[in-house]
Amino acid sequence: MAASDRRPPRTPAGGRTKADQWREQRKREDRAARWAAVSFLVAIVASLALFVVYISGGQAQLEGLTLFIAFGAVGVGLAIWVRVIVGPEEIVEDRYPMRSEDADRDAFEELYQSTMGEVTVGGRRRFLLRLLTGAGLSLGLALLIPIRSLGPGPRNELFRTEWGEGVRVVDEEGEPLRPEDISPDQVVTVFPEGATGSADSQAVLVGLRKDVPTDLRQPTVEGIVVYSKICTHAGCPVGLYRAAVGELLCPCHQSTFGVYDGAEVLSGPAGRPLPQLPIEVDREGYLVAISDFRVPVGPSFWNLTRGDGA
Ligand code: FES
Repeated sequence: MAASDRRPPRTPAGGRTKADQWREQRKREDRAARWAAVSFLVAIVASLALFVVYISGGQAQLEGLTLFIAFGAVGVGLAIWVRVIVGPEEIVEDRYPMRSEDADRDAFEELYQSTMGEVTVGGRRRFLLRLLTGAGLSLGLALLIPIRSLGPGPRNELFRTEWGEGVRVVDEEGEPLRPEDISPDQVVTVFPEGATGSADSQAVLVGLRKDVPTDLRQPTVEGIVVYSKICTHAGCPVGLYRAAVGELLCPCHQSTFGVYDGAEVLSGPAGRPLPQLPIEVDREGYLVAISDFRVPVGPSFWNLTRGDGA
């Protein structure tokens, strides 16, 4: 069969000329291009609105809504562009002589003449690409927002608490404690004097039994140990004490710490012992700290062993 015999039929469908079909297709694409452009513009406006809402104080619901609209509008614009303008189907066309038939050439000329001055296909693509770039840039600007939320670095705050040399150990009412106030197996939540309620300085004081051997990391007095009350796993208060076995228990994920073994982790997800507070008795007979905790309290972090916190 000759190559020219394999050409697709050229008869106009439904009485419409080839130029009519092309014109309709062109109108469909123009309509789609307009909707895609509107979607990208909505994405730009929503992204800028997100930015403005954030820098003027922030409002979680509004930020979520504008972010949703921005991403959604970009998605809708791209979907329209790809499905209608580019087209989803793959078309394979048989080869045939390159020269168009006279009827096609006439139809194209008619179409070209009738659309002179309209936006060209290349111009439309450029226009949509610019809008898409604008939407991407404004979304990128909005996505930089979380950097601002990081705030200033913690500096040395993670390495310090309110404890320090000579600071008295007080109970939750702010009453200073003496060794004779504490009996074996007794547990008291304690704070540094003047900082009752301080979240990172809260500690648990335990009276030890004299008949149980100890393996402690810091100086202690008269069978009394003081450990940070903040779990080294995820920061819950370690509030339960099983006196019979000498274990402090964190209720969040069941980490257990051996009170007689320097709060070593006995089980559970905690990765290191509870920091122990070095204590002594001052001249008036009250329990005082010798220094701050010698390792940071609470969950581990990336430079936990930095400097004198090691
Ligand atoms: S916070 Fe204590 S075990 Fe997880």
